[in-house]
Amino acid sequence: MTTILDGKQTANDLMVTLKAEVAQLIARGVTPGLAVVLVGDDPASAIYVRNKQRRAEKLGIRSVKHTLPADTDQATLLATIAALNADASIDGILVQLPLPPQIDEAAVIAAIAPDKDVDGFHAVNVGRLWTNTPGVVASTPLGIMALLDHYGIAVAGKHAVIVGRSNIVGRPMAGLLLNHDATVTITHSKTPDLFALTRQADLLVVATGQPEFITADAVKPGAVVIDVGMDRNAAGKLVGDVDFASVAPVAGAITPVPGGVGPMTIAALMMQTVTLAKRRLQ
Ligand code: GUN
Repeated sequence: MTTILDGKQTANDLMVTLKAEVAQLIARGVTPGLAVVLVGDDPASAIYVRNKQRRAEKLGIRSVKHTLPADTDQATLLATIAALNADASIDGILVQLPLPPQIDEAAVIAAIAPDKDVDGFHAVNVGRLWTNTPGVVASTPLGIMALLDHYGIAVAGKHAVIVGRSNIVGRPMAGLLLNHDATVTITHSKTPDLFALTRQADLLVVATGQPEFITADAVKPGAVVIDVGMDRNAAGKLVGDVDFASVAPVAGAITPVPGGVGPMTIAALMMQTVTLAKRRLQ
């Protein structure tokens, strides 16, 4: 029997506890504040941002959205970030990626105060992750760890194979799994015979952005399969990077798309916003 790792239900369960924590913070005079900066009108980004804001509001987190036009210049965006860095009512700053081509993404991430960098993308937080010291961690990998934890899936000693090496998912996922004593292999588009490696995975995390890239013959029977993808297939249907229909019968556990990793990413973002807000009490 394959376990379906239900991210929607798990996120909802986690939010019950988190809502109580937010209420306690508010009672002590601290309303967690999350600033979301959206540049341009990419439709997918607009949906992501709306979902994050809705979730924040349901929890009692104050969410402030800054929408800037697609032709915004670098200096204007940096000035917006500087103002949010200086705003004591804001605990977390999230600049939705991707940014328009005239903007230097690395410079923008570097401009966010590391202790308000709720995405964990700043080099200081990346360094904290890779030295296994406390810091903010990227939401998608953190949400995946919380999902595994919720289902009692231990990663220590397991061979975790990650497909994709992005700063948002693949690399921080590797750091977190390593910090939890997994043996980690990172594969990517230049990896020869990639499927020979995925077939060795006890835990397979797929973040390629290619619809249904992983099929049953790429998966070891009984493996835990985590699908980070949100793709449209040729028929226009929302699918993941894993061919769920063929892989689910082979896997020991698998995330669906939608309803797997996505809701957990948002839950992790909310948890980290609350963690950052708690620092105001210290
Ligand atoms: N774009 C896709 N995923 C993310 C994310 O986790 N954070 C931000 N800021 N942008 C994204």
